[in-house]
Amino acid sequence: MQVKYSYLQEQFADYPAILERIAEVVRAGDYTLGQAVAEFEQCFAACLGAHYAVGVNSGTDALFLALKAAGIGPGDEVITAPNTFIATIGAINASGARPVFMDITDEFVIDPALIEQAITPRTKAIMPVHYAGVCADMDQILPLAQQKGLTVVEDACQAIGASLQGQKAGTFGLAGGFSLHPLKNLNVWGDAGVIVTDDLQLRDRLVLLRNHGLKNRDEVEIFGYNSRLDTIQAAVGLHLIGQLEWITETRIKWAQRFDQALAKLAPQVKVPARRPQKRYVHHLYMFQAQRRDALLAFLQASGIEAKVHYPVPLHLQRCAAPLGYREGDFPVAEAQARSIITLPVHQHLREEQVEYMIAKISEFYS
Ligand SMILES: Cc1ncc(COP(=O)(O)O)c(C=O)c1O
Repeated sequence: MQVKYSYLQEQFADYPAILERIAEVVRAGDYTLGQAVAEFEQCFAACLGAHYAVGVNSGTDALFLALKAAGIGPGDEVITAPNTFIATIGAINASGARPVFMDITDEFVIDPALIEQAITPRTKAIMPVHYAGVCADMDQILPLAQQKGLTVVEDACQAIGASLQGQKAGTFGLAGGFSLHPLKNLNVWGDAGVIVTDDLQLRDRLVLLRNHGLKNRDEVEIFGYNSRLDTIQAAVGLHLIGQLEWITETRIKWAQRFDQALAKLAPQVKVPARRPQKRYVHHLYMFQAQRRDALLAFLQASGIEAKVHYPVPLHLQRCAAPLGYREGDFPVAEAQARSIITLPVHQHLREEQVEYMIAKISEFYS
């Protein structure tokens, strides 16, 4: 049996309906910040329970522009986790600020108990990453940030629909950045991103920043960027956003089946303990496995496209060498990088594929 990681063929099997939406954009010649962008922003904000959503051209820019709009730049430090996609720290770096790492919990998110140790007089912000679709421990991070006067910009690129105590990831801090990259739970036909915020001033600044700082055709308020959400991608997003609950619930259903089955393989397999206050949206289904590399090879040889997200934490990547970290600095993240494995968990899996993955993992450890 084959279990593919990508499901884009199935997901966009109804592409003629999307092409029809795009045809409307073409017929209207409405390509730049068109009607579909405004509609998508409204739907996105409503879906998150946020006041405002601002569409931009990628998740990376969502984070970068949110930092810029919050006034974070050269000389500032931003605390984040080392087990994330490079874009998190790429965005911090692009703002001119310095990424500062702190270790993580068994749930793959920044450890709130350790953040205070990383705070210096230069710290301006915390960027928790809701990694793999796990909402970070915002109930502990927010009070600390408030007490220390730090801005919180959330990297919610992997976590649309995740929540803590009913509040959606991305809506806790000053702003939250989302990605609509084809590999994300809510995805479009290329690059796109969204920033959500409840702060009107920040929203207005973001609207300027994403469009060259233009107040109108003839007046430029500030230096900005060209980072508009493409109208065609907004049309694709509008088509898919109505499916988000189904997408999320299906992923949760498969993840719960994995949780239940893999718990029986402890201690060779370690599934993170799930907090009842959290909704996990399983952008990635990750667990820790003994003999991970052998398991990965076995699963791949069995037709299962398992992966590792990621084998090298960011503080040990060459690009981060100027930050001066060393092996041993973040023992939890480093141990996880050696033991984590990701299974396909998407909404187009069939039950027999899920059972096949469980059977193969059980066979490996038998
Ligand atoms: C955690 C995280 N942050 C940021 C990004 C950047 O998003 P994008 O690829 O849309 O720029 C991604 C996804 O690629 C991500 O997974």
